[in-house]
Amino acid sequence: MKRELKVQLAGVLENQALARSIAAAYAAELDPTIDELTEIKTAVSEAFSNAALHGYGGEKDEDGKIAQVQRPVFMEFSLIAPQTIMIRITDKGRGIEDIAKAMEPMFTTDVGQNRSGMGFTVMESFTDKLKVDSRPGEGTTVTMIKKLDTYYGF
Ligand SMILES: Nc1ncnc2c1ncn2[C@@H]1O[C@H](COP(=O)(O)OP(=O)(O)OP(=O)(O)O)[C@@H](O)[C@H]1O
Ligand SMILES: [Mg+2]
Repeated sequence: MKRELKVQLAGVLENQALARSIAAAYAAELDPTIDELTEIKTAVSEAFSNAALHGYGGEKDEDGKIAQVQRPVFMEFSLIAPQTIMIRITDKGRGIEDIAKAMEPMFTTDVGQNRSGMGFTVMESFTDKLKVDSRPGEGTTVTMIKKLDTYYGF
């Protein structure tokens, strides 16, 4: 596929900034507006933190190399039409029992006070299309499509 980028990184929150930067680097060549760039980075950030926190349970691995193998998050970026980016973020973690419920605004399974349950809502509002595929015990794939304003070269 055209302009395809596939990355695998360890699903730990320490890599969240890296995931954002990779998304920004991919989108940058399409001359996004500052707002579009922020939206892409934020949507990827939410999907990545979900993979790390919920998919893999949030525990930290002592050994980065083992983490890379055992908690992989796959990020795929491709250009599916002019100025149209498809982003796919996959984890092989615990999966989601009820996807529709998980996607409701303010729904969280987090027992602490840190999560607002707005990750999917943010992904939905910052992209043109959001699709979640998940199987309990197998993992989750979040697919997002983002159309950028056409750049006319001036
Ligand atoms: N990759 C995933 N693997 C397993 N469960 C997930 C995954 N992504 C989301 N979930 C489930 O869906 C719920 C809602 O996710 P969402 O991102 O909307 O909210 P949150 O992560 O709980 O809070 P916030 O994103 O606002 O910090 C999560 O609480 C979790 O139960
Ligand atoms: Mg979240």
